[in-house]
Amino acid sequence: MSKRIEVEDLNVYYGDFLAVEGVSMNIEPRTVTAFIGPSGCGKSTFLRTLNRMHEVIPGARVEGSVLVDGEDLYAPGVDPVLVRRQVGMVFQRPNPFPTMSIKENVLAGVRLNNKRISKSDADALVEQSLRGANLWEEVKDRLDKPGAGLSGGQQQRLCIARTIAVSPDVVLMDEPCSALDPISTYAIEELIEELKNEFTIVIVTHNMQQASRVSDKTAFFNIAGTGKPGKLIEFAETGTIFTNPTQKATEDYVSGRFG
Ligand SMILES: Nc1ncnc2c1ncn2[C@@H]1O[C@H](COP(=O)(O)OP(=O)(O)O)[C@@H](O)[C@H]1O
Ligand SMILES: [Mg+2]
Repeated sequence: MSKRIEVEDLNVYYGDFLAVEGVSMNIEPRTVTAFIGPSGCGKSTFLRTLNRMHEVIPGARVEGSVLVDGEDLYAPGVDPVLVRRQVGMVFQRPNPFPTMSIKENVLAGVRLNNKRISKSDADALVEQSLRGANLWEEVKDRLDKPGAGLSGGQQQRLCIARTIAVSPDVVLMDEPCSALDPISTYAIEELIEELKNEFTIVIVTHNMQQASRVSDKTAFFNIAGTGKPGKLIEFAETGTIFTNPTQKATEDYVSGRFG
């Protein structure tokens, strides 16, 4: 079930280094939000705080709060493993388990969660997740073949199927198309449009056309210089960010004068 994300005054550190400073942002359910900005401004870092993946790096920590439907992910006693089930993530390079079959790849997250699942339930979940990822028709006759045998674009949709198989509320994607050809990219963009009916989607992209095609809202991040923290400069409807931004830095970036 799609949920609302409310970020309040978040600071993100790697040890002593403040990588992202003072981000506050509300993300509505059933929307796609794009993060754009120059390399190194903290898009990936900030994204990983939304499912507590940031803190797996030694010394990494946050200040502030991230609420998902009102529940603070960083409250004492919250299990980060449960958070990552609730807020799934798709990475830049498709990362299916190469020797595992397509079917077992889809079920990998469910199996990790130690859920006992009957064969018929597993088959139904595999079909539903692969359909949800727009991959079913292409793979239904070879579910027991290795995931590594698929094309890059199919592998990325397999990873999306694996992510949605555990029924998350939010799906985070960090440049999910940057390793894909244009046709596979188009397939993923079409899929994002459908996924937003069920999940809150947040996508980092360095491709501004992609941000304008897929997202409802866009957040522009920037850095003042090397060693300085990244900051959220402007967050608004995607059309506004690209045609009528309030901040000069946003306008410079989206018009290609910078970055
Ligand atoms: N594992 C890490 N340890 C220390 N610093 C990091 C780590 N990952 C990223 N950073 C630093 O955090 C800043 C933001 O990086 P990143 O979030 O990757 O930016 P973006 O995704 O916008 O390109 C950069 O200065 C980067 O060098
Ligand atoms: Mg990044």
